[in-house]
Amino acid sequence: MRRTVPGKMRSIAVSLSKGGVGKTTTAVNLAAGLVRSGRSVLLVDMDTQGQVAKMLGVQPQCGMAEVINNEVRLDEAVVEARPGLWLLPGGRTLAGLKRVIDRKEYGGERTISETLAPLDDCYDYAIVDTAPGWDVLTVNALFYAQEVVAPVALEVMSLQGLVEFEHSLQAIQRYHKDLRLRYVVPTFLDRRVRKSDNMLRQLQSHYGDLVCAPIRYNVRLSEAPGFGQTVFEYAPASPGAEDYLALTERILHDEQP
Ligand SMILES: Nc1ncnc2c1ncn2[C@@H]1O[C@H](COP(=O)(O)OP(=O)(O)O)[C@@H](O)[C@H]1O
Ligand SMILES: [Mg+2]
Repeated sequence: MRRTVPGKMRSIAVSLSKGGVGKTTTAVNLAAGLVRSGRSVLLVDMDTQGQVAKMLGVQPQCGMAEVINNEVRLDEAVVEARPGLWLLPGGRTLAGLKRVIDRKEYGGERTISETLAPLDDCYDYAIVDTAPGWDVLTVNALFYAQEVVAPVALEVMSLQGLVEFEHSLQAIQRYHKDLRLRYVVPTFLDRRVRKSDNMLRQLQSHYGDLVCAPIRYNVRLSEAPGFGQTVFEYAPASPGAEDYLALTERILHDEQP
């Protein structure tokens, strides 16, 4: 048990079908932010690119796919990337896992939930980073999660992408009632670009209170992964660190007593 707060573990998927919107950046820095606040976090990478481990400067030997294929035990695959921050890596081997899940006749969508069940309530948070697109791994991540954080890039017109993503979520909610889109995180805010502010207002008018304070465009956020560091380690005084801290606080605020 690595719990530090009472109550149930919160499981949060960081997801949106569109790529390059800041999902992985959000998953990693949100996880790091929660750890800074004394929470224990399991960070799960569901992307074949294995970006999460790289961003944390970790070179994993195995991950989710090897666990499901019974090549390693779950506790062998979960590595402590930072004190209190535990990583279950993704990576290329997930491609094979997709085929394994696809071949299952029944219950394939719950493969990840079943695999991770022994870790339920071992951590304060499980944060799941998902790949772009919509595949069996993302569906699995959403069957596992209870809350969804959807990052939406303000630099492109991606409101439509969010509306479509919500429809896909609704299909899952029919079978998994506890799932809800809880946070919309505007990313790549650039005040110099008028479109950026317009998009933010549009998001707020459609999604109201779900919309969190935006994450500004900040080059430090894109540099940090090259050093295998979170933004709090690489540039703790940067706007990127400030914005991810604010997002962390918003999410902490909703913890059940
Ligand atoms: N707020 C931001 N400001 C500047 N660059 C960012 C920001 N958020 C993410 N990036 C960079 O943009 C790229 C895409 O982000 P990423 O988190 O990988 O998106 P996704 O996981 O949705 O594909 C990465 O190179 C990342 O470092
Ligand atoms: Mg990503």
